[in-house]
Amino acid sequence: MQDDTPIPQNPFRPGAGQKPLYLAGRSDEQDQFAKMLKQNPVTQNAIVTGLRGVGKTVLLEEFKPIAQKSGWLWTGNDLSESASLTEERTARRLLVDLSTLLGPIIEYSDKQRILPGFTAIHAPTNRPLKFEDLWSAFERTPGNTDDKLKAVFISARQLLESAPVNGVVFAYDEAQNLTDHASAKEYPLSLLLDVFSYLQRQPSRFPFMLVLTGLPTLFPRLNQARTYSERMFHVMYLRKLSEKQARDAIIKPIELSKSTLHFAESTIKNIVELSGCYPFFIQFIAKEVFDAWIGKIKIGLAPSVPIDEIMEKLDEDFFAPRWLRATDRQQDFMKVIATLPKAEEEFGTQEIVTASRQILVKGFTHSHATQMLKALGEKGLVYRSRYGGYSFAVPLLARFINRQSWDQTSIRNRTA
Ligand SMILES: Nc1ncnc2c1ncn2[C@@H]1O[C@H](COP(=O)(O)OP(=O)(O)OP(=O)(O)O)[C@@H](O)[C@H]1O
Ligand SMILES: [Mg+2]
Repeated sequence: MQDDTPIPQNPFRPGAGQKPLYLAGRSDEQDQFAKMLKQNPVTQNAIVTGLRGVGKTVLLEEFKPIAQKSGWLWTGNDLSESASLTEERTARRLLVDLSTLLGPIIEYSDKQRILPGFTAIHAPTNRPLKFEDLWSAFERTPGNTDDKLKAVFISARQLLESAPVNGVVFAYDEAQNLTDHASAKEYPLSLLLDVFSYLQRQPSRFPFMLVLTGLPTLFPRLNQARTYSERMFHVMYLRKLSEKQARDAIIKPIELSKSTLHFAESTIKNIVELSGCYPFFIQFIAKEVFDAWIGKIKIGLAPSVPIDEIMEKLDEDFFAPRWLRATDRQQDFMKVIATLPKAEEEFGTQEIVTASRQILVKGFTHSHATQMLKALGEKGLVYRSRYGGYSFAVPLLARFINRQSWDQTSIRNRTA
C-alpha cells in the first residue's frame, strides 16, 4: 500500500556545534556582546564558558552576525585539535585567520618586486594579500614570537584603518586547549593574551576584540597565564536553561518546522525533567522521541515514548565514552562523589575522603583524593571551580554514575 502522507522531518539537532532550529534563552548574553562592540576603546574581551553541551559553540555562532551587523569583521577558529599548540603554531593560526580577513579587502602589488634596470614584461599585477605575505613579514621582524606577531598586527591594523569596518573580532572555540606548557617552554596562551592586551593598549581608532569559548577550566588557566586577564575579559557563564526556556527548546522547533507531529504535555514534561534543562540532552532526547514516533506511525502504531531505551542510548553515546576514560579506582572515587548531596554542584576533598571511608573497604586519604581529582581533571571529567571546590565537567554525570552498579567486593555494606 502506498502511503502519501509526508514523513515529518525531525526538527531536533543534537551534536556538537549544530545550530538548533530555535535558540532558547541566551538573549542576555547576546545583548552583552552587542554592548561590548560599542566600547571605545575596546578594553574588554569576552569569554563564553560552561559545561559540555551547554551551548557555547552555538552561541559563538550567534555572535558572528551580531558583530557583522555592527560593522565588525569576524575571523577565528576551533582549537579542539590543537592540544599541543606551540607558540609558533599559534602565531601561524592567528596570521592565517588575519589573512583570510585581509585577503578580500587588501591588495598586494608586486611592483616592488621588479629589480632596477629590468622592465616588467607584464604590467605589475595586483592580487589579494595572502598568508605568505604576512608570514614573510613575521619572519623578517626581529625579536621573539610576540614581538613579531605584534609588529604584523600593527601593520595590518594600519591597513585596516582605511577600510570601512569598525573592528575585528577574533573568535576561538575550545580555547582551553591553548594552555601554556611550561615544561616544553611553550606559552601559547600567554602569547595570545600579550598580543591582544598590547594591541588594546596602543592608541588606535581601530579595535581588535578577542572572544574565547571553552570549558570551565579556561578562565582559571587564563589567570594562571597572566594575572591581568581577570580585567581583560568579561565572562559569560552559560548554565542550564530555565524550565520555560527548556520547554521552548522542545516546542518551538516542532512549531517552526510546521510538523504534523506534536508532543503531548506529559512528554514535554518528561523531556524537561530527564534533560535537566541542558541543551544537548534536550536535543538528544527530543530527537529520539520524535524518531520513535515516526517509526511507530509508519507501522500504524499509536505513538508512545520509549524513555528507558532513549536513556540507555544517551548513556552509551554520551556518558560511557567519558566514563571509560577513568580507571576502576577512579570510577570508585567518582561513585563516592556521586553519593554526595551536592554532587551535581560542587564538592570538596574532605567530603569525598569522609564518604569514601564510610562506603569503601579501602577509603581514600586526603592526599590520594587530591591526586585523584587532579588526574580526573586532566581527563576532562572534573574541574576546579573558582573558589577551590570541584565540580563534574560533564552535566548530569552524577545521575549517570548513580545508575552504575558497584563492584560488591569494594564496598563495605554489601547489598546481598
Ligand atoms: N540555547 C539553546 N537552545 C536550544 N538548543 C541549544 C541551545 N544551545 C545549544 N543547543 C543545542 O545543544 C547542543 C550542544 O550545543 P554546543 O555544541 O553549542 O555546546 P557546547 O557548549 O559548545 O559543547 P562542547 O562543550 O561539547 O563544545 C547542540 O545540539 C545545539 O543545537
Ligand atoms: Mg563547543
